[in-house]
Amino acid sequence: MLLTEKRLLLIGGKGGVGKTTISSALALLATHRGKSVLLVSTDPAHSLSDAFNRAIGDKITRLAPNLDGLELDPDRQIAEHLANVSAQLKRFTRPEMYNEIERQMRLTRHSPGAQEAAMLERMANVIELGLRDYDLVIFDTAPTGHTLRLLSLPEAMAAWTQGLLNANKRSEKLGEVLSHLTPKGGRDVSNPLADPSEHATAGMDERNKAITDTLLARQRLLQRTREILTDASQTALLFVLTPEKLPILETGRAVQSLLQEKLPLAGLVVNRILPDSADGQFLVARRSQEKIHLAQIKQDFGHLPRYKVPLQTTDIQGLSALQHIANLLQQAGL
Ligand SMILES: Nc1ncnc2c1ncn2[C@@H]1O[C@H](COP(=O)(O)OP(=O)(O)OP(=O)(O)O)[C@@H](O)[C@H]1O
Ligand SMILES: [Mg+2]
Repeated sequence: MLLTEKRLLLIGGKGGVGKTTISSALALLATHRGKSVLLVSTDPAHSLSDAFNRAIGDKITRLAPNLDGLELDPDRQIAEHLANVSAQLKRFTRPEMYNEIERQMRLTRHSPGAQEAAMLERMANVIELGLRDYDLVIFDTAPTGHTLRLLSLPEAMAAWTQGLLNANKRSEKLGEVLSHLTPKGGRDVSNPLADPSEHATAGMDERNKAITDTLLARQRLLQRTREILTDASQTALLFVLTPEKLPILETGRAVQSLLQEKLPLAGLVVNRILPDSADGQFLVARRSQEKIHLAQIKQDFGHLPRYKVPLQTTDIQGLSALQHIANLLQQAGL
């Protein structure tokens, strides 16, 4: 039902539990059910390329019939984002200012939250494109709590941009830029975007209008994304964990924060369960510990659907290994 009825799936979980493997196998399973799928990763480590055993990168790449992949690159994201901002600032300043603008952009690049903000905006764009062109969009790696908070407060994006403008204020050289950027007519400079439906650009000159329009467009985009992400009829989050202590603890915390953010958590994939056929002294001992953890998972997350995937004898790499995991997910009830 998840694969055929939802439009957007986000796969979360602790490092190394199998998010990329499970996302890729789910994507294949959805294509078996007649869906066209866009599989997206935000992992700088190019993990989709590794799972499918072929180069993907930051452009839509065909991986299988009805399945395209895309690896978003956070460094490229922020570079492009800042290049846009700086181009916009340059349009409105004298060439003597350009060095100072470049310096500000270099500082901003490393400022806290800048990468998340740039990535979030790209994710929002990819979600819109994906929902337009595909039946289903699957994100390997759900946004972290930190990123989700940015999303739950579209104003945070405006605040970030505003912070950039304020930093300019501190630089005397850029006083002139700022005077161009400051809305006139007694608007609240610290929160020019308080109400996105307001005619915020009325009465502004050309330059202020261009900049404010950009900010407003971004804010509206994030509001639309927020609506999609919190809409249980379109979106589902799946959490992957292994039957081990730390992943169980982390999943407990994540489930709490997702519920707080009102995101539609649809279930857990319990990955790498020792198969009954595994034998030997060592595995008997591991299995008895695993039993305790599986009981814990049942106790902590009994209210959520749980899909169980056994440990395989080898790593999962390439299309046919992923197809096998897709079959196992189907057997598990997905
Ligand atoms: N059921 C399984 N049986 C055997 N190996 C598995 C299974 N699931 C995943 N693996 C292997 O475990 C390793 C980690 O899986 P994967 O890369 O999917 O995890 P991840 O959660 O995406 O990691 P990261 O947090 O680094 O992105 C990979 O080598 C993968 O092939
Ligand atoms: Mg991964």
